[in-house]
Amino acid sequence: MIAIILAAGQGKRMKSDLPKVLHKVCGKPILNYIIDACKNAGIEKIIVVVGHKADVIKENISGVEFIVQNEQLGTGHAVMCAKDFIDDENVLILNGDIPLITSDTLKKLSHMHKQNSVTLVSTVVENPSGYGRIVRRDEKFLRIVEDKDADKNELLINEINTGVYLFNPKMLKTALQLLSNNNVQNEYYLTDTIEIIKSMDDNAGIFCADNYHEFLGVNDRVQLAQVSSLMQKRINEKHMRNGVTIINPKSVYIGDSVEIGQDTIIYPNVFLESNTKIGRRCIIGAGSNIVSSEIFDEVNVQSSVILNSIVKSKTKIGPFAYIRPNCIIDENVKVGDFVEVKNSNIGSGTKISHLTYVGDSDVGQNINFGCGTVTVNYDGNKKFRTKIDDNSFIGCNTNLIAPVSVGKNSYIAAGSTITEDVPEKSLAIARQRQINKLDWKKKN
Ligand code: UD1
Ligand code: CA
Repeated sequence: MIAIILAAGQGKRMKSDLPKVLHKVCGKPILNYIIDACKNAGIEKIIVVVGHKADVIKENISGVEFIVQNEQLGTGHAVMCAKDFIDDENVLILNGDIPLITSDTLKKLSHMHKQNSVTLVSTVVENPSGYGRIVRRDEKFLRIVEDKDADKNELLINEINTGVYLFNPKMLKTALQLLSNNNVQNEYYLTDTIEIIKSMDDNAGIFCADNYHEFLGVNDRVQLAQVSSLMQKRINEKHMRNGVTIINPKSVYIGDSVEIGQDTIIYPNVFLESNTKIGRRCIIGAGSNIVSSEIFDEVNVQSSVILNSIVKSKTKIGPFAYIRPNCIIDENVKVGDFVEVKNSNIGSGTKISHLTYVGDSDVGQNINFGCGTVTVNYDGNKKFRTKIDDNSFIGCNTNLIAPVSVGKNSYIAAGSTITEDVPEKSLAIARQRQINKLDWKKKN
């Protein structure tokens, strides 16, 4: 089967410059969830109907084909725009604003469909207002009536149209040709095709899904928050079932594609974003934010930010460290409090315990950074690298004016400003000698 996702509408109620389907739920655009659900259900050909801000959507979404609906004349009209893609495969149609839909439900729908001409997914909700209602007579499907077209009795029906359907391609094409826009909104309603098909061959099925959550649409920011919190719960529960401890799941936000190893413990107020990967037996302490990074096993992160970097096993980060993009921090390293590391490689066993800036640097193994070390990487115009070889000792408050290198097994005296390379096994002192003025107090 192929899938057609309807995403041409403006999404007025979002009150946003960003198209509705690009708003993010747990870090991922709404539309991507629907595309992924289709792909995970085994659908390879996915067509997205775009219109409002089509270019922005095309720039941000990949792996699908787009068709542009220039004027939004209704959901039926949107499908008509994609008619060249309709051939002899069944056509799954879904609205672009239901990120909680799962591939399991799509598979079930496909299973139910069999030889039906159309199968529509309905569900029962407490408050059906806004939705199309399923009108039945003697239990049997009669038609869908839109909220705006419904009469008093029809408004009481709480079985609603979810906006997910599976069509036989020939029947869909025929029904689309017969659509009219003779309704309150003067739109071509896709929903009318069901009644048309039923009148032609009486072969329209309904799959009444029991989990209405999956079909909650995002129409405004309140619904965006509601859907996000359901998604957050779904993602966190998946990790907990896989053996991750989350101390207060309500306060932890994990992106849809994040991976976390068994026996890792996540403290409150943690954000794990994008394609972050976390190993086993890690501790991710309160308030940490990790984006697009790979954290190996048994790493301990306390109240720190890590962006686009790799942190290897048994390393300790924080509290209050800031690891900026492009760092590779090896095993058993300590990056302590108020330390910033950027675009640097840090070798195993090295300790950068406090109040230090390491930028654009290649740092070897077992190096000790004294408190307050600064790699001076920027001359106001260009950035330069600092290289420090294994087993060196950098005294407190050292400035390393890059480009500069420090050889193996060498020492730098505290308070030095190093402007020239330090040879291996040597001691560099680069500061003024102290003068003691005796009896100064008496004379002044
Ligand atoms: C639609 C259904 C309604 C169902 C509800 C489920 C119709 C007529 N009604 O109503 O029965 O209960 O979904 O959420 O289909 N779109 C286009 N082009 C258009 C119009 C809409 O691409 O010309 C897209 C929108 O971007 C959106 C989707 O189609 O993703 C649904 O449109 P929307 O206007 O939100 O329909 P509803 O009124 O919610
Ligand atoms: Ca809608």
